[in-house]
Amino acid sequence: MKILVTGGTGFIGSHTCVELIESGHEVVIVDNLYNSSIEVLDNIEAISGVKPKFYKVDILDRPSLEEVFKENDFDAIIHFAGYKAVGESVSIPLTYYQNNISGSLNIYELMQKYHVDNIVFSSSATVYGDNFEVPFKEEYGQGDTTNPYGTTKKFNEIILTDFARANKDISVVNLRYFNPIGAHPSGLLGEDPEGTPNNLVPYIAKVATGELDHLRVFGDDYDTPDGTGVRDYIHVVDLAKAHLKAVEYATSHKGAEVINVGSGKGYSVLEVLKAYEAACGKKLPYKIYPRREGDIAVCYADTTKAKELLGFEVFRGIEDMCRDSYNYMIRHKK
Ligand code: NAD
Ligand code: UFG
Repeated sequence: MKILVTGGTGFIGSHTCVELIESGHEVVIVDNLYNSSIEVLDNIEAISGVKPKFYKVDILDRPSLEEVFKENDFDAIIHFAGYKAVGESVSIPLTYYQNNISGSLNIYELMQKYHVDNIVFSSSATVYGDNFEVPFKEEYGQGDTTNPYGTTKKFNEIILTDFARANKDISVVNLRYFNPIGAHPSGLLGEDPEGTPNNLVPYIAKVATGELDHLRVFGDDYDTPDGTGVRDYIHVVDLAKAHLKAVEYATSHKGAEVINVGSGKGYSVLEVLKAYEAACGKKLPYKIYPRREGDIAVCYADTTKAKELLGFEVFRGIEDMCRDSYNYMIRHKK
């Protein structure tokens, strides 16, 4: 298949491009490089042997985006491009709605105009909000989101579901990711955000490399075994493989589906820290801080539907995730 990957030089997109190429698909990337770099293309090539065709295009730039659709006959789209910082979305909500909703609408309208029938969308477990019991099941629907970023994911799921309902040829897979971490085992692809990371593992990684002096543990008084927040971490390579299965599923079914992509297992902040200490071979200092606003105590997936519809299961554990993250950090720093 010829697959358009928006946001394909980003963290999850780049790993997905590798999996798609290694399975024989042709990949075309659209990314404005807002949160990624052009060198990622060489690294995808170093791993997979193929340098994907690349357009430095902003999905908000409708005429340039349309040129991409005119020049290529796509079988499917995997739509990663978007902003993802929860805290930032609270401060600049309109920027988030503009990029994640208006940008996505450009993709969906061009999809319709150029008869591309299949799409996989990057949604998030954040759409469950604080309303439901764990493990989160797709049949719960959507909860109350607590920030504009989460609301953009919720709206995109609704827009795509309505789109598929109105167009019998359209196939949509909304993938609800839990917490993707880790890196490609080659050390060539991974995540190393600019500035102080918001997310747990990128933060721990910078404590491990000495760039930050201690981990701030946000709350130790949750109703969890050690009092710290519990999340469902998934290795980014496993998540990338889920996209391969999802895009293949999309092309052989019609209608819209929502599918969780997680491991089904929860780890606390202190458990992740311990696993990272084992991976880097040193003690990592931490201090307890107040709870972070908007955080829930526990979040993990019911993975039954991913297994049943996609035949998807994770193969990499927390040790692999921490080892590959650290390996990327030390190679990347050189
Ligand atoms: P990322 O920031 O590494 O990748 C997103 C890519 O999209 C970047 O390369 C960025 O340059 C590009 N982009 C952003 N706006 C664009 C625009 N207007 N035009 C063209 N390109 C644009 O993020 P990621 O972690 O790889 O996440 C990918 C997707 O998955 C995002 O939609 C994100 O919201 C979603 N998601 C991520 C997580 C997570 O924890 N990483 C969890 C749930 C959902
Ligand atoms: N945490 C800390 N210290 C930190 C960062 C995080 O203690 O410096 C804790 C949090 O309180 C939470 C856990 O580590 O208990 C995980 O936090 P992350 O920020 O890594 O991840 P979240 O679960 O808050 O959010 C992530 C993505 C969202 C996505 C959500 C659900 O950032 O985009 O998972 O998929 F919506």
